Amino acid sequence: MSIHTENIKIVTTQRVLEMKQRGEKISMLTAYDYTMGRIVDQAGVDIILVGDSASNVMCGNETTLPITLDQMIFLAKSVVRGVKRALVVVDMPFGTYQGNSREAIVSAIRIMKETHCDCLKLEGGEEILESVKRILSAGIPVMGHLGLMPQSINKYGSYTVRAKEEAEAEKLLKDAHILEDAGCFAIVLEKIPAELGAKVAKELTIPVIGIGAGCGVDGQVLVIHDMVGLNNEFSPRFLRKYANVQEVMNNAIKNYVTDVKSGDFPNEKEQY
Ligand code: KIV
Repeated sequence: MSIHTENIKIVTTQRVLEMKQRGEKISMLTAYDYTMGRIVDQAGVDIILVGDSASNVMCGNETTLPITLDQMIFLAKSVVRGVKRALVVVDMPFGTYQGNSREAIVSAIRIMKETHCDCLKLEGGEEILESVKRILSAGIPVMGHLGLMPQSINKYGSYTVRAKEEAEAEKLLKDAHILEDAGCFAIVLEKIPAELGAKVAKELTIPVIGIGAGCGVDGQVLVIHDMVGLNNEFSPRFLRKYANVQEVMNNAIKNYVTDVKSGDFPNEKEQY
């Protein structure tokens, strides 16, 4: 029997750190609503991220930029209600922490108070250090996010692999140390060379969780819609699809339409 069903207890930032220390890989997935939060939690995932990727997969936006603080709070509140065991991290949306640490702490406290989540994730390194420190000083655990940072898509112009060049790799490594020194409890690395991912994980004492950052990091994160095949239009190399839920739902819905049209549904047992 797995540890998850035998020994159910709340995952904390301390427990996540201990996983790294004893070499246990950390599993992390996104969720954006109550039902999905409940399913992901009951399946034994360690960390649930209410990602601003909700802007794409839940709202149909091209980027993560349009999602608002109110929308993230609405989604996160729903997820938290469904989660008993996992650590719940909420993404601070674009425009709520960049360049203004006072606004950052006000937004952070709103998310914590209104959603009852466990911690927050912010994209960026040295340039957002003041905001990170101010949030940490309020006793709120912070997860960093380096490499491909979708909130900066307009700066980079594409979603290609980051930090392939030496200068960008050096900056990423420096930023990772800055975030660790500031007191972040973990860092996400998105879409960078595997060798760099492994180097960062080796140099840092805090957990490094990768998405497209290779197998040498301390854990992995994927977007739930992508890994269960709810969104078959997105197929980057780093994605492993564990199911084809879109096909399952398509078939179920087609069968329902056929049964309604033919009068087969509802039958005698399905009525009062
Ligand atoms: O918003 C998100 O889903 C994320 C993951 C890709 C790490 O930040």
